[in-house]
Amino acid sequence: MILGLFTTIIAIAGSTHGKVFQHLSELPVDLMTFDFIVSGGGTGGSVIASRLSENKAFNVLLIEAGPDTADQLGLSIPGWGLGKGTENPSQFIWNYESVPQEGWNGRKAGIPRGRGLGGSSAVNGMVYTRGSKDDYDNWARVTGDPGWSWNALRPYIRRSERWTPPAGGRNATGEYDPAVHGYMGRVETSLPWDGHLEHDIRTIRNAEIQKAEFPLVLDGNAGRSIGVKCWYQLAWMQSTIGNGTRSSAATAYLGDPVRKRGNLAILLNTQVLRVHPVVSSVRRLDIRTVEVISSDGGTAVKFTAKKELVLSGGVIGTPHILLNSGIGNRTELESLGVASILDLPDIGKGITEHVAANLVWDTVPLNTTTIDQDLAYAMWQQNRTGPLTATFTHQILWSRIPSSSTLFKEWKDPSTGTTSPHLELPLDAAQNAYLALLTPYSRGSLRLASSNPLLPPLIDLGLLTHPFDMAAIKEGVRIMKRFYSGPAWEGYITGFRGPDPDVLSNEEFEKRIRDNAITFYHPVGGSAMSKRGEKRGVVDGELKVKGVRGLRIVDASVFPYVLTAHTQAPVYILAERAADLILTSWVG
Ligand SMILES: Cc1cc2nc3c(=O)[nH]c(=O)nc-3n(C[C@H](O)[C@H](O)[C@H](O)COP(=O)(O)OP(=O)(O)OC[C@H]3O[C@@H](n4cnc5c(N)ncnc54)[C@H](O)[C@@H]3O)c2cc1C
Ligand SMILES: *[C@@H]1O[C@H](CO)[C@@H](O)[C@H](O)[C@H]1NC(C)=O
Ligand SMILES: *[C@@H]1O[C@H](CO)[C@@H](O)[C@H](O)[C@H]1NC(C)=O
Ligand SMILES: *[C@@H]1O[C@H](CO)[C@@H](O)[C@H](O)[C@H]1NC(C)=O
Ligand SMILES: *[C@@H]1O[C@H](CO)[C@@H](O)[C@H](O)[C@H]1NC(C)=O
Ligand SMILES: *[C@@H]1O[C@H](CO)[C@@H](O)[C@H](O)[C@H]1NC(C)=O
Repeated sequence: MILGLFTTIIAIAGSTHGKVFQHLSELPVDLMTFDFIVSGGGTGGSVIASRLSENKAFNVLLIEAGPDTADQLGLSIPGWGLGKGTENPSQFIWNYESVPQEGWNGRKAGIPRGRGLGGSSAVNGMVYTRGSKDDYDNWARVTGDPGWSWNALRPYIRRSERWTPPAGGRNATGEYDPAVHGYMGRVETSLPWDGHLEHDIRTIRNAEIQKAEFPLVLDGNAGRSIGVKCWYQLAWMQSTIGNGTRSSAATAYLGDPVRKRGNLAILLNTQVLRVHPVVSSVRRLDIRTVEVISSDGGTAVKFTAKKELVLSGGVIGTPHILLNSGIGNRTELESLGVASILDLPDIGKGITEHVAANLVWDTVPLNTTTIDQDLAYAMWQQNRTGPLTATFTHQILWSRIPSSSTLFKEWKDPSTGTTSPHLELPLDAAQNAYLALLTPYSRGSLRLASSNPLLPPLIDLGLLTHPFDMAAIKEGVRIMKRFYSGPAWEGYITGFRGPDPDVLSNEEFEKRIRDNAITFYHPVGGSAMSKRGEKRGVVDGELKVKGVRGLRIVDASVFPYVLTAHTQAPVYILAERAADLILTSWVG
C-alpha cells in the first residue's frame, strides 16, 4: 500500500529522474517508511541498495552526500579522468588530507575519496585486482566465518563481474584466463587498451628470458597460486572498463532499470550526520535512525529503518559518522564533549594504506606518438576506440620477498600467506615508477577534531612508521633493479637513478623514500571485522556492529588489514556477500 502511494506521488511530481531525489526537501518524508536505509551511495552502498531492492517486498532508501555521476562525460571516459569534461570536478571529491606524517618527514598525505553516486568507484583509476586467495582465507580466520574464504566467495566474485572484450575488438586470447571471470554480473571489466606498447613487448621478452624469476602468468586475478619457488608474477592489467567506458558502482548497480524500481528511493546531496538508537531502554542498543542534513545546509531530519540501517560511508565516512554519534572510545569522545552511547574503542583504529616509493630509471628517448586530442575524442565518440578507452598501465608486476630474506629474522612476515605478494609495481612508466608496499606493518587512526559533525576528522595514516616497511621497500628496490637488468631491456633502460640502497647510505636512502613517497589511495579499516564475542574489532562476520541491533557496515572500513589488491574489487565482493547475508536474515 505504501508502495502504491509512493509511486503515485512520483507520478504526480512527474520527475524525469524516476526515483532519484536531488534534494532532501523533495522527499515526501511523512508518507514513507523504509525497510532498509543505506547511508552512503558509494561502491559498497550501491551494491547493497541494488541487491536489496531486487526483492519487491522491501522498501529501500539510499542516501548519498554528493551528486549523481552517471551523466558526467569526464568520469565516463577512461583517458580523461577527473577534470576534463566534468562539471565542477571538486564536487565529486572529499578532499581530505592527513595530519603531518612522521614517517614522511612531516609531509601530509592527500586522501581523496569519491563523493557522489558510485563513490570512489566513479572517480578511481579503474584498476581491477581482487587480491590473493590468502587475503580472503585470512578474513575467514579473523571472523571465524568460512563464508569469507576465497573458495566460498567465488560465486560472489562472479556475480559482481561482467567480462567484456577490449576496445576495437582486439583478440586478447592468451592475455587472461576465461575460466576465472564472471560474464553475467554487473561491473564491466576488460583489458581495455587497443594494442601493445614497446614496454609491453619488452616485458614479454623479459618474461621468456627470466622465466624462472619473472614469469608472465595468464591471469593476475586467479587468486595468485604462486608456487613456493616462484616469488614474482607478471600479468596484464585488468580494468573496470567496458566498451571503452568506466563501469562504476553507479553505472553497474544503479542503472536506469534499477532507478525505475518502485521500491528504491535514491536521495542525493544529503549528508548523514549521526545515527541514533530507536529505543534506549532495552538490553541491547537498537540503532536504526539516521540524522541527515541537506549538503547545502538547512535543518536536520531523521529517518528510521523498519529492519536495518547499513552504513556504507567508506573508510573515512563510516568511522566519522559513528564517532559523531557517540560510538567509539568513551574517554576520547567525552573529552570532546560528545555524549557516549556505546564504548567501542576500536572505531577509527587500525587504518592501513598502501605506501609507494618513487623509482626512476633512465630510458632512451621513447617512440611516443603525440596524441591528437580532437581525433582521440572523435574515435571514442564514434565507436569507442583509440587512446581514450584506457588508462595508463598495461601490466602489473607483483613480488614476494623471499622467505630466506634476513628481514624475516627480525619481523614476522606480515603477509596473509604465500599467495600474497609483498610488493607491486605497475609497469610501463619506468621513467617515473611507483613501487607499492602491499603488506605494511604501519597502522593509522581516525579521530574527531571536534563535536561538530560537519568538520573533517583528524586522519593519521601512520605511513612508514614501522621499520619493517622501510626495510621491505629496500628489498623491493633490489628486486625491481633485477627485473630491469635483463637483456630484454638493452636499448631501452640506460640506467637507474634510484634511490638505490646499494649506492646511497641508509640515511640518504630513507630520506629520499620519505620525501617522495605517495599512497595508492587504498586506505581501509577503522571498523574492522573480528569474531563474534571478541572484544576487539567493530563488526562481526555478518558485518553487524558489536553490541548493537539493527546496524551493519558494508564498505572498506571493515577490512581488518589492507589486501594485496587495489581495493575496489574487494569492496564489490564483500558487498555482494553482505547483501546475501542481509536478505537471508529477513527472507528466512
Ligand atoms: C582517486 C582514487 C583512485 C583509486 N584508484 C583505484 C583503482 O584504480 N583501483 C581500485 O581497485 N581502487 C582504487 N581506489 C580505491 C577504491 O576505489 C576504494 O577503496 C573503494 O571504491 C571504496 O569503496 P567504499 O564503498 O568503501 O567507499 P566509497 O566508494 O568511497 O563510498 C563511500 C560513499 O559514502 C558517501 N558518504 C561518505 N560520508 C557520507 C555521509 N556522512 N553522508 C552521506 N554519504 C556519505 C561518499 O560520498 C561516497 O559516495 C581509488 C580511490 C580513489 C579515491
Ligand atoms: C572506428 O572508427 C574509425 C574511424 O571511423 C575507423 O577507422 C575504425 O576502423 C573503426 N573501428 C572499429 C573497430 O569499428
Ligand atoms: C585469437 O587468437 C587465438 C590465439 O592467438 C586464436 O587461437 C584464435 O583463433 C583467435 N580468435 C579470433 C577470433 O581470431
Ligand atoms: C581510550 O582512549 C584513551 C585515551 O586516548 C586510552 O588511554 C585508552 O587506552 C583507550 N581505550 C581503549 C580500550 O583502547
Ligand atoms: C623505436 O623504434 C625504432 C624503429 O622501429 C626501434 O628500432 C627502436 O628500438 C624503438 N625504440 C625503443 C626505445 O624501443
Ligand atoms: C559501444 O558504444 C558504442 C557507442 O555508444 C555503441 O555504438 C556500441 O554499440 C557499443 N558496443 C557495445 C558492445 O556495447
